[in-house]
Amino acid sequence: MIEQIFSVKDEHEFLEKTSIHLLNKIHEILETQEFCRLGLSGGSTPKKLYRRLAELHIPWEKMVLIVLDERNVSLSDPHSNYGMIRDELLSMIKIPDEQVVFFDTELGYDSAVLSTEQKLIHLKKERLPLFDHLILGVGADGHIAGIFPETPSPQKGFLTMKTHTDMFDVGERMTATMEALTSCASATLLVNGHEKTRVLNAITGSTGAIEGQNNLPIMEFIAKVPTTVYAVNV
Ligand code: 6PG
Repeated sequence: MIEQIFSVKDEHEFLEKTSIHLLNKIHEILETQEFCRLGLSGGSTPKKLYRRLAELHIPWEKMVLIVLDERNVSLSDPHSNYGMIRDELLSMIKIPDEQVVFFDTELGYDSAVLSTEQKLIHLKKERLPLFDHLILGVGADGHIAGIFPETPSPQKGFLTMKTHTDMFDVGERMTATMEALTSCASATLLVNGHEKTRVLNAITGSTGAIEGQNNLPIMEFIAKVPTTVYAVNV
């Protein structure tokens, strides 16, 4: 369910409002949890936000950061989500390696997925929900993380899976499943770019949305997770 929607006027306001919102959310979570489990989307929108978060007074030693999806490329490849998060955030903060969960593609495609599956299973056994909060982007087609409209649902119980897209850079993907993503207390959804106007319309229930919108991954997600939306340049 959508908790609030903020349409901001420019990138500066977007970064200020989203970073303050997330700072407050993290401190709120840490009032009741020993660690804050924060899921991180890849893509371009959150890049500057991650760099901004690195400048804030966040107790990183109390954070568990989980990269939600990856492309099947080397971690040093410019298309790597982990690589972007490493460069924009991890390289600027002090956080124990074991508190950062990501698809380690250097292990190979299948092993990267299996290894992350095992780490998420361990987190889920420790406590639910799996995530305290997600920072989520959304594609113009309504995809989230590495889950696309055409992605078949995996068997129940799987927390990670391999997916494929012909629509975006790097076809071979790996991602947390919808079951994993929706095991989440709340989320911040970042919607950036005029090409996302129709998906924002779908999210807000406005006219001029996307055909078959109710089956879009983003719609399934917001139906289950309390989500605050920040939209810019839409
Ligand atoms: C990825 C992301 C993906 C992203 C959306 C939006 O691996 O690309 O995880 O789900 O969040 O595609 O991307 P932008 O923020 O670049 O528009």
